[in-house]
Amino acid sequence: MKEERYLTFALGKGRLANKTLELFEKIGITCEEMKDKDSRKLIFVNEELKLKFFLAKGPDVPTYVEYGAADIGVVGKDTIMEEARRVYEVLDLGFGKCRMCVCGPESARELLKHHERIRVATKYPGIAKDYFYNKKHQTVDIIKLNGSVELGPIVELADVIVDIVETGSTLRENGLDVLEEICPLSARMIVNQVSMQMQAERIKKLINAIKEELS
Ligand code: PRP
Repeated sequence: MKEERYLTFALGKGRLANKTLELFEKIGITCEEMKDKDSRKLIFVNEELKLKFFLAKGPDVPTYVEYGAADIGVVGKDTIMEEARRVYEVLDLGFGKCRMCVCGPESARELLKHHERIRVATKYPGIAKDYFYNKKHQTVDIIKLNGSVELGPIVELADVIVDIVETGSTLRENGLDVLEEICPLSARMIVNQVSMQMQAERIKKLINAIKEELS
């Protein structure tokens, strides 16, 4: 019989990766090596199941999967939307739930109603552009930031922000509100388009096992 090749997973570093590994353990996929928090190793192998895992920066996960460097990726829907890579999104894993929202001070609500030209600060210029240009038909200036986006309206860099809201406490503590909701978000599994054909049986089995565990 032909030796099975390795199936490679790219996991977005941090909370999502931990949650993913917890879920994988429940369906019998373990990777002991990965639990060593002090390890600087980048790639981990489960020889028995012929699986490899690596941790990557969230926005790089769809890139690894599109090019086939990873067969399967787990990453937030926000990143999938922003990166817009050619990958199949096959499963909502149900954790990492939050919302993509337009936020700002209450006083900015009017600016959104009247389609004024406003400044929008965000880590997600692609999502912000799509929302304002294609869905709201409002011309805006988008300012890309790399984090602590809530500062934008506070220091008057921008009128509003497009950002992730989970508990809402960052907004509350900074006197900002959700003004409009763009879409719900959660962790998703993505698959390389060629792997989905060539490794269909193994990948479908995995998807079904996860679905069963989640139901
Ligand atoms: C995210 C997001 C918000 C915050 C929302 O930031 O950009 O700032 O979490 O969570 P909350 O609604 O529970 O307060 P993150 O912590 O990833 O850091 P960043 O601001 O540097 O991007």
